[in-house]
Amino acid sequence: MAAEQNVERGNWNSKLGFVLAAAGSAVGLGNIWRFPGEVAEGGGAAFIIVYLVCCFLVGFPVMAAELTIGRATGKNPVGAFKALSKSKFFPFVGFWGVLCGFMILSFYTVVAGWTLSFFFEEIFYFIGNEQLVNYFSQLDNGLKNAIFSSLFMIATIQIITGGVSDGIERVTKVLMPFLLVILIIMIGYVITLDGAEKGLELYLKPDFSKVTTDVMFDAMGQAFFSLSLGMGALITYGSYLDRKSDIPQAAAYVTLADISVAVIAGLLIIPAMFVAEASGIAIFAESGALKSSTTLVFDVLPQLFHTMSPIVGLLFGGTFFLLLSMAALTSTISLLEVPVSYVIDERGWRRKSAAWALGGTILAISLIISFDIGLIDFIDTIFSTVGLPLGGLLIALFVGYIWTTNNALMEMEDGTENFDKSFFYKFWPYFIKYISPILIGIVFIRTIMELF
Ligand code: TRP
Repeated sequence: MAAEQNVERGNWNSKLGFVLAAAGSAVGLGNIWRFPGEVAEGGGAAFIIVYLVCCFLVGFPVMAAELTIGRATGKNPVGAFKALSKSKFFPFVGFWGVLCGFMILSFYTVVAGWTLSFFFEEIFYFIGNEQLVNYFSQLDNGLKNAIFSSLFMIATIQIITGGVSDGIERVTKVLMPFLLVILIIMIGYVITLDGAEKGLELYLKPDFSKVTTDVMFDAMGQAFFSLSLGMGALITYGSYLDRKSDIPQAAAYVTLADISVAVIAGLLIIPAMFVAEASGIAIFAESGALKSSTTLVFDVLPQLFHTMSPIVGLLFGGTFFLLLSMAALTSTISLLEVPVSYVIDERGWRRKSAAWALGGTILAISLIISFDIGLIDFIDTIFSTVGLPLGGLLIALFVGYIWTTNNALMEMEDGTENFDKSFFYKFWPYFIKYISPILIGIVFIRTIMELF
């Protein structure tokens, strides 16, 4: 229907390219930095079970809904809601999504900057260049954050400037499989080390006594953040899909890929923590609770790498942080693409100006955060914890009751063989109309109650 009207927009080159790009958006710091910490606190395998329920009952149906809205309209979130209803309210939901993307990216860039700076720090440490190691350790933290978030944002802008198939697709196609291979090699190594067994036990043995309502709500929030849902990132990615693509299947692949990387990353990080403990590194705070995810990834892990011989340490420390920044990069790309597609479609901007102007503005916020990282929590709470489930709820209600699930099913029929006989065809409408909104609604009300 749409897609060709604007040369600045573009399309995916191949089906695999799209799935990898969407999976690249989903797989990020959420999987490797946030997920393992939540598992460790939430009762190991018990948390994973709750998380899987959230992903399948809420995440997957909403993902199919976002992709369908995107492909039906060929537009950014604001334009898409305008195209599908006369309502004045829903374009506003799209705009809220654009704003959430804007703000999430501003702090995500700072954390992504850490991964990049640790990549260099590990290399300098193991190469034994004391001058550079000292230089890094003396650098003011705020300044260091500012430098590395700037580098990260410039890389993101460069890729977005290249457009959908040349930029996003080409980069993720290479990075995604590489990431998985490296993770698995590292697990193979870490699992042979002293202490790993204790980590494996924590990870694989469900402790249901730890699954409080809080933990369930965390699991829901984590599912939204990790699957990149609730702000129209997948409406935007869906808008570059052609009519031959099978949306339910693509959504299933992306959901499974994201879950797999999270579970695999946990299999690395949690045993690695206990390996660190076995070599005398503290991983529990005084309260007896596990240290925060940030401490674990950016403090405990480097210490663990430093107990290794230089070659092994360089290999593992260097690749780990490189890998983490690559995963973050394919996510920052999707976060920037949302506001960029909005100004291209709705305001007629050129892609290049849009990427630099918006990326630059977001970077300005990142620089403020660089010098006051306490802001991360605040922005994260409003725009991820509250913003994403709110967006997801409204998207589900929109598809369920305004656009209607029948129209959505008709759109999905293109590209899907024997669609009307499928399990998805029969059940998806119930999920979008009832199960997802009710579950998200509960989370949302709970989150609000906790805030006030
Ligand atoms: N899913 C990414 C992660 O796990 C973060 C992310 C990228 C995101 N795009 C998004 C989160 C859109 C919410 C919405 O790190």
